[in-house]
Amino acid sequence: MRIKVVRARPGNRTNIINSIAEVMRYQSYLEIGVYDSMNNFNRILVPHKVGVDPHPVRKFHGYMMTSNEFFAINKEKFDLIFVDGKHTYEQCKTDIEESLKILNDNGTIIVHDTYFLKRCYEVPIVHGKCWRVIAEMRQERPELWIGTIFDDDGCTIIRRGSQQLYPKVQMSWVWYRDYKEDLMNKVTLEEVIDKLRIERNVN
Ligand SMILES: C[S@@+](CC[C@H](N)C(=O)[O-])C[C@H]1O[C@@H](n2cnc3c(N)ncnc32)[C@H](O)[C@@H]1O
Repeated sequence: MRIKVVRARPGNRTNIINSIAEVMRYQSYLEIGVYDSMNNFNRILVPHKVGVDPHPVRKFHGYMMTSNEFFAINKEKFDLIFVDGKHTYEQCKTDIEESLKILNDNGTIIVHDTYFLKRCYEVPIVHGKCWRVIAEMRQERPELWIGTIFDDDGCTIIRRGSQQLYPKVQMSWVWYRDYKEDLMNKVTLEEVIDKLRIERNVN
């Protein structure tokens, strides 16, 4: 079967990112994997923005290098980090783990491309294996809160907090296909915003 590769275009991810940034009054934003800054990066309404991409299609404010190279030299912390770079299992996992280290208190990570319906999209040039990294974190990381908005190819929200772990199972594509609502903890943007409003007022 041939896969039609549709490169990331403007979409609801921008609204999701901006809504979270607005409710939390975030001041700094990091985007791992910018591609065309006109699609998302330039539309993000946060005062201080940094992008990272070794092969962007146009200029942007940030670093023309891989995320590994960036993490090795970076000294900044960020309120909001959008992980949307190389979509292999290993790189997505590294990008999330490194992002957690440079996330401000009360910060949020959003991981793109975690929701899809066809297995052929699991190749790195499309959605890759980001879903699997999230699925594992849902089973192994009680100190994080993780929820996935099933919109714009999936935007998974990660915050410090707590979650009820998903039971340990032999993870497979078929499991994801059949149980992804619970596995990825499906949430709506409205539910996330309500949760953040409460947390913002408590902290
Ligand atoms: C899906 S596109 C990003 C789309 C963009 N975030 C948006 O919302 O419109 C993925 C980008 O990741 C970049 N990329 C590939 N490998 C990378 C790496 N190791 N580190 C950072 N970015 C990488 C690619 O050059 C590509 O431009």
